[in-house]
Amino acid sequence: MTRLLGISGSLRRASTNTHLLQNAAEMFGADTYTRASIDLPLYNGDLEAESGVPEAVQTLARQIGEADAIIISTPEYNKGVSGALKNAFDWISRIKTTPLAGKPVAIMSASAGRSGGERAQYALRHCLVPFDARVLNGPEVLVAQSHDAFDADGLLIADSYRDFLGRQMEALRAMT
Ligand code: FNR
Repeated sequence: MTRLLGISGSLRRASTNTHLLQNAAEMFGADTYTRASIDLPLYNGDLEAESGVPEAVQTLARQIGEADAIIISTPEYNKGVSGALKNAFDWISRIKTTPLAGKPVAIMSASAGRSGGERAQYALRHCLVPFDARVLNGPEVLVAQSHDAFDADGLLIADSYRDFLGRQMEALRAMT
């Protein structure tokens, strides 16, 4: 039984990053695919000291711990990852069990610009360093002008993107 977890850096309901993860999950072919929620309170040391790590963060940590592989997609916000994604990593780092350690992870990005979020994706790679996950180096998946890249059902339109994504998921499967 293979469990795949998807973490989208965009909270938007119609997020193209969430669509990209759904396409990836179908290509990966896991027994279960779970979409994590990172709609979390902002990390605040006072909140943590007064109430502990929020239930939603503990749920996320448990989902990460149970996953056989993880896919993360980030939008590019001002040349970096979304604040929601960085905030989720900051909260996860407060969990004692380091659930990301050793996990196979594939990263990708979808953004409005021509670079497909390449700078954000490098920032995401950097953000993951402290967690000691096994982050795939390639093939890289960068979806440019993402508002036009998916059809009405959320499927990636271009064969070239589908090809890169398929090969990336094959590489991720080989790591599990
Ligand atoms: C953006 N966008 C953007 N695009 C890009 O290619 N480079 C950038 O630096 C930025 N900066 C940026 C900042 C902020 C605050 C917003 C809201 C947007 C556009 C962004 O890539 C676009 O909204 C994506 O479609 C977001 O992904 P989802 O929500 O479709 O997953």
